[in-house]
Amino acid sequence: MLELKHELKLNKTRDEKARMNFVSGLRAHVLNDMAAGMRDIYSADVEPEFRRRNRRAPKNGPEVHKAIKTNEYFKFYSSLRVTAQDMVWQSVFPPLERSRPALKQTAARLAGKKPRGTLSLQKNFEVPRYVSAIDVHLMAGNYDGEYETDDLAAGSLYDNGLAVFSFGLMGQNLDDIGQSIAGFIKRKFSDLRPKKILDLGCTIGHNTGSWKDTYPEAEVHGIDVAAPCLRYAHARAQAQNREVHFHQMNAESLNFPDNSFDVVFSSMFLHEVPKKSIEKIMKEAHRVLKPGGLMLHMELPPNDQLSPYDAFYLDWDSAYNNEPFYKPFRDLNPQEVCKKAGFSTKKYVQFVIPSVGWYGAEVRDAAADQQQSVDNDKTGRLTDGVLWYCFGAFK
Ligand SMILES: C[S@@+](CC[C@H](N)C(=O)[O-])C[C@H]1O[C@@H](n2cnc3c(N)ncnc32)[C@H](O)[C@@H]1O
Repeated sequence: MLELKHELKLNKTRDEKARMNFVSGLRAHVLNDMAAGMRDIYSADVEPEFRRRNRRAPKNGPEVHKAIKTNEYFKFYSSLRVTAQDMVWQSVFPPLERSRPALKQTAARLAGKKPRGTLSLQKNFEVPRYVSAIDVHLMAGNYDGEYETDDLAAGSLYDNGLAVFSFGLMGQNLDDIGQSIAGFIKRKFSDLRPKKILDLGCTIGHNTGSWKDTYPEAEVHGIDVAAPCLRYAHARAQAQNREVHFHQMNAESLNFPDNSFDVVFSSMFLHEVPKKSIEKIMKEAHRVLKPGGLMLHMELPPNDQLSPYDAFYLDWDSAYNNEPFYKPFRDLNPQEVCKKAGFSTKKYVQFVIPSVGWYGAEVRDAAADQQQSVDNDKTGRLTDGVLWYCFGAFK
């Protein structure tokens, strides 16, 4: 399990650490070793049986899912993965419950520290129902759950939970996505010198901060609907000496003027949003982006760029991990989504970016000089050698 390094990290007993380590190890086993075993069983048994019955190979993810659903290995894989997911959050609750008052005190102290990032929350803010009504990826209370004044526990749950969940693949500061992508963009588009950068659905700002690291001169903003995560994001950025401005805002209707940002970014955001809202969010991104600016969404790769087996594999979360919008999002064509929002198809971009933590900056930078395509085994998949997928467009 990865140990967080900043001041807000939870103090854990030896037993609690051991439990977290066990859960991380279990997830790594399921997502690396068992996933490889399941693919072998699919190739050796499930797919040949499908061909025998249908005189053709499966056409898409749902056909693979239907064919594999009754397989004992698949059932074992799925039940272990669901259990491990639940255990991620369960392993954080005891130290988190004990630390609630201390967390609030630390956050209050950090708020006064320089450099001064800012936090603006809104009174009577309406959190969209697609956030408030579900516990996405089995995270109790979801991002927005608040149980006392100035509550930031949901942010702490996410930070510490992600450290267990990602078994080291998201970097020491859980910002491998941000560091990989911002560094890649700087290398690839050396003329792009952003003055203002916006991160949509920033949660605890772990990937927002990477933009400030990469472009220190830029003014960096992160927005989210969840107040407890934003309080935590602000304190986390202050603890790490990053000047970032966090706002409680709905990405469907941003309170920023037209043509005000050079980069509008998001990571792991759109797949948690219903299709109608994605349309609004993309239009808003287009509106607030300056002409010549770049919109970029790091996401799971779309189904139409994956083999039927890999489409099924990534859609697992939609069926078993309380991610109702995951598959509908991945069924969309990203280029069409951008076009519908007003972006020219000529200015569409798509990248597959090697994780800087796994491959190092040299490999990531070399990738910036080449054309990359989706690798079915590694793109967007939390597995050894992960590659990050992103799409977007220049305005
Ligand atoms: C999976 S998390 C994003 C994680 C983060 N960006 C990262 O890099 O790992 C999704 C976030 O989107 C937020 N969210 C959902 N709908 C939103 C909306 N309409 N506007 C702004 N934020 C939203 C949620 O509160 C949550 O914090």
